[in-house]
Formats: sequence, C-alpha cells, structure tokens
Amino acid sequence: METAVKHLSLATTLECPKCGKPYAIEALQSYATCCNQPLVTRYNYTFHKSDINTHEYSMWRYAPLLPVFDANNIVSLGEGWTPIHHLAKTSVEHTVLLKDESVNPTGSFKARGISAAVSKAKEAGITHCIIPTAGNAGGALSAYCAKAGIKATVIMPAHTPATLQQECRMYGAELMLVNGLINACGNLARQRVQETGAFDMSTLKEPYRLEGKKTLGYEIAEQLNWQLPDVIIYPTGGGTGLVGMWKAFEEMQQMGWISGKLPRMVVVQTQNCAPMIQLFEQGKIAPDFEAGASMAYGLAVPEPFAKDLMLEVLHHSDGIALTVTEEEMEQGMKEVAATEGLLLSPEGSATYVGLKKLIEKDWIQPEETVLLFNTGAWYKYR
Ligand SMILES: Cc1ncc(COP(=O)(O)O)c(C=O)c1O
Repeated sequence: METAVKHLSLATTLECPKCGKPYAIEALQSYATCCNQPLVTRYNYTFHKSDINTHEYSMWRYAPLLPVFDANNIVSLGEGWTPIHHLAKTSVEHTVLLKDESVNPTGSFKARGISAAVSKAKEAGITHCIIPTAGNAGGALSAYCAKAGIKATVIMPAHTPATLQQECRMYGAELMLVNGLINACGNLARQRVQETGAFDMSTLKEPYRLEGKKTLGYEIAEQLNWQLPDVIIYPTGGGTGLVGMWKAFEEMQQMGWISGKLPRMVVVQTQNCAPMIQLFEQGKIAPDFEAGASMAYGLAVPEPFAKDLMLEVLHHSDGIALTVTEEEMEQGMKEVAATEGLLLSPEGSATYVGLKKLIEKDWIQPEETVLLFNTGAWYKYR
C-alpha cells in the first residue's frame, strides 16, 4: 500500500501573473512565462495565522506558505525574523521604523530568497547553480550551496568590493568577474548555463527567490501586530523584495490576516542607475538609457526583468519612485550611525535619504508610520 507523502507546503501551482496561465509546480522551472513575466507561486490559502510556528525564529515559521514540500530539503542558516528598530531621533513627528536585514546570514536580505531557492533546487535534485549578481546574492548563494552540497558559480562585476569576492571563494564557489554591471554578468550567466546545463538562479527568472523575499511582508505584519505601516521605503534594484512584500500583503488579505489600506510603497534608486524612476515618471525606459556604477551596488540594475510588476505595485499602492545621489547616501550613513547607533549599507542609507526628501515634499504626513530597510551590512562594503 502506498503511503501519501505529507506536504509541508500548501503550494499548488505556478502561474503567469499577467494572464493567469498555470505552470506545473512539480518541475523546477527557470524561465519567463508566456507573457514574458516572472513565474509566481500560488497556494491553497487555508493557513491560519494562529498556526504560525512561533518557536521557529527564522522565515521558515511561515513554511506552509513557502514552496518546499519536504522539510528535509530546507537549507537554512537562520535567515529572517530580523529586528525592527524605532529611529526615535530621526523624527519626532513621524514614527520611523527600520527593519535591519544586515543581521541575516551572509550579511544581507538576499539570504531569504536564496534559502528558499536553494532548498527548492535541493528538492529538485539540482547539482550546479549559476548566479549573476551585484554582490550580496552571490555570497548568499555560495553559502547556501555549500550547506546543501551543490556546486555554485557566481558571476559578479569586477569592481565589486573585495570582501564580497572573497566570501564566495571562502564558501567554495567558482567566481567569475566581468567588466560591466549586472546585465553584463547576466549575459555570461546565460552562456554558461547553456554550456554546462547548470541551473539559472537569476533574479526572478527562478520563481522561488521571490517566495523567500515575500517573508519580509509576513514578518513586518506579524512584528507590528498585524498593523502595517503607512509607507514602506524600499531600496530597489531587481525588485524582488518590493514585489515579494506586495505578494505577501495580498496573500494575507486573502487569508483574512490583515485588513484595511495597504502601505504606500516607495522605490528608491541611485541617480547613477534609475530605470524605475524613468518608467514611473515617463511611462517608458529610453532605448539609450545609460547606467553607471554605484556604491549601492545592489541598486545598479539597468534592466530589471520585473519592471512591469514593480510598476503595478507603485500604481496599486499609490506609491512613488525617487532617486538619491552618492553623496546623499554617504552623508545618510554618517547621520544614522552617529544618531541611532546603526551602520547602514549605502542601499539602507538610500531609504533614509528618501524618507527625508518625502517629508520635505509633504508626501509623508506627520503622525504617519514609515518603515525603512537596511538591506545589507556596512562591513561588507570595504
Ligand atoms: C544590499 C542590497 N539592497 C538592495 C538590493 C536590491 O534588491 P532587489 O533586487 O530586491 O530590488 C540589493 C540587491 O543586490 C542589495 O544587495
């Protein structure tokens, strides 16, 4: 007699977010949908918030709403369940909160998406993963693949700080350096995938990094007692966190975990590379769009694959997109370190500078609650 395997996950199908066409959940997919969109995972939304495993102090407390079926396949280094700080000195008129993702394994929020994706790769029997990266995702992939016993190839811009290169080598990954930004790394990754048959872990070309990142949204809700902030300011590159959080909010609404208005979502980018600001303000990204490097290397993504999904989040949430300069980020890091005792990555500082600009413009009102993100560890940028 066959015994039914008890699935941990309530995932049912993969889907094109534009036309709703379903894709099989069983095979590990790594491609764009019929409408050239990222694949999204759908669940049987029958999970009650009272059933969250509150003794699990990682993102895996939401395991039924993550895609891994067999708990033995979870590859975890303790990612998620990160603190939310109140930045009391930053404003007395507003409640300014900061979710500190720098305390994740490998020092950035990339650990969330990569934990989910590597776990699914393990579940599918994948033996070799390739990733084009601005830096942090490469370190995370190297670490999680080391833990899973999977070969990792990391392709990153040659100008990425030495610490980020070194950590990949320490974790035993193959590291390839490219002159250019992450889009140039993506081209080489595609070529290597064809040559080696390895699995492509590119942002949103693989569906499950999004699922790991969506736990940001679940955590914010749970940590704030199911009362979401009025505004969330997100340092945006490929957009996985932005799209992921919004997915979490919609899922929680569907399950009746939250009600009321969702936060206004803010995209912050560096002036050196701001395709989303151009798309938001002008309706399209110019064909001759020029992108430069940034000390916030996670934001230097000239051609984000999820641009349509990000734009939808901005429109549906009554959000806004804005840029900050390299000098402003540098200054922001100094201010927050000296006033709040927190070292921010340049990307984290971008959200702080964005907050100040939006308060000045009266886009954020007194009494409103605003959540910022520190997505990476300052120490890794040396
Ligand atoms: C520290 C940091 N912040 C923000 C981002 C942008 O994240 P997303 O791809 O979710 O937009 C990255 C991506 O590399 C990053 O490393």
